[in-house]
Amino acid sequence: MFRIVKKQELNPTVTKMVIEAPLIARKAEPGQFIIFRATEDGERVPLTIADYDREAGTVTIIYQIVGGATMELNRLNEGDCLHDFVGPLGTPSHVEGLKKVAVVGGGVGCAIAYPIAKKLHELGAEVHAIVGFRNRDLVILEDEFKAVSNRMKMMTDDGSYGEKGLVTNALEQLIKEGNQYDEVIAIGPLVMMKFVCKLTKEYDIKTIVSMNPIMIDGTGMCGGCRLTVGGETKFACVDGPDFDGHLVDFDEALHRGSMYREFEQHAREAECE
Ligand code: FES
Repeated sequence: MFRIVKKQELNPTVTKMVIEAPLIARKAEPGQFIIFRATEDGERVPLTIADYDREAGTVTIIYQIVGGATMELNRLNEGDCLHDFVGPLGTPSHVEGLKKVAVVGGGVGCAIAYPIAKKLHELGAEVHAIVGFRNRDLVILEDEFKAVSNRMKMMTDDGSYGEKGLVTNALEQLIKEGNQYDEVIAIGPLVMMKFVCKLTKEYDIKTIVSMNPIMIDGTGMCGGCRLTVGGETKFACVDGPDFDGHLVDFDEALHRGSMYREFEQHAREAECE
C-alpha cells in the first residue's frame, strides 16, 4: 500500500514522489490535498496534490524538506511504502468558466499552482503563469508550466535566472499591459500571497489563494487549521484550502504560522541526530 513508484530530486531541498494510491487518484481534483505519515509514529503532514494519473492509479506529491517529518519522508526510496496516505481532502479549486487567468506561484507553492494551471489550460482558458524563486538553483517545474501556459514569466529574487524581481512586479506589469484577468490565483509563501492580494485589490481583480496552515486531522474536527476570512472563522481543511484572498486575515495567519517554529526546530534537530 502507498508504494513509492518514483522519487526525483527537483532541487537540493525539494523532492517529487509518485505514490501508488489508486482510490485517491480516481477522485483527486486540483486544489485538494492528502495527509501522510511516513511511519507509524510519524507526524501527520498535509500536502497539496501536485498531480494525479487516474489510469496508473498514482498521486504525485512535491515537498520541501523543512522539518523532521519531511526529512523522515525523504529517507524513503522507490519501492518503500508510506504508512498512511489519506485523501483527497479539502474542496477542489473552482476553475470552470474562467477565460483568462494569471496563475502566480512562489517557491514550492508552484507545485500546487501547476495542477491548477494545467486544468485551466485543459478547459481552454488563457493562462499567464508567473513563477518566482529565490535563485536559479531553486527553480522547479519550469517545463511543466511552459507546456500549460500561453505566457510565462520566470522571476528570481537575485536575477540569476529569468527576470530579477518579485512576482508582484511581473503581475503588475502584465496588468498594466492591459491584460484583463477574470481571476488571479496565487499560491506560495503567506507573505507573497498577502502582497499579491494587496496589489490585485488596487486593480479590483478577484484573487484566490491556497492556505496551508497547521493541520492535524484534516476533517474539520481539531480546529488547528482555523483562519479568519471575511471576519468569520473558517477551517482550511474543509472550507478551503482555497479562499478569497481579499478577505483572508494574513497577519493572523502569519502569527499562527510562526507559533511552533521553536518546536519545529527541535524536531528537525532530533531528526538530524
Ligand atoms: Fe483539524 Fe482542519 S485540520 S480542523
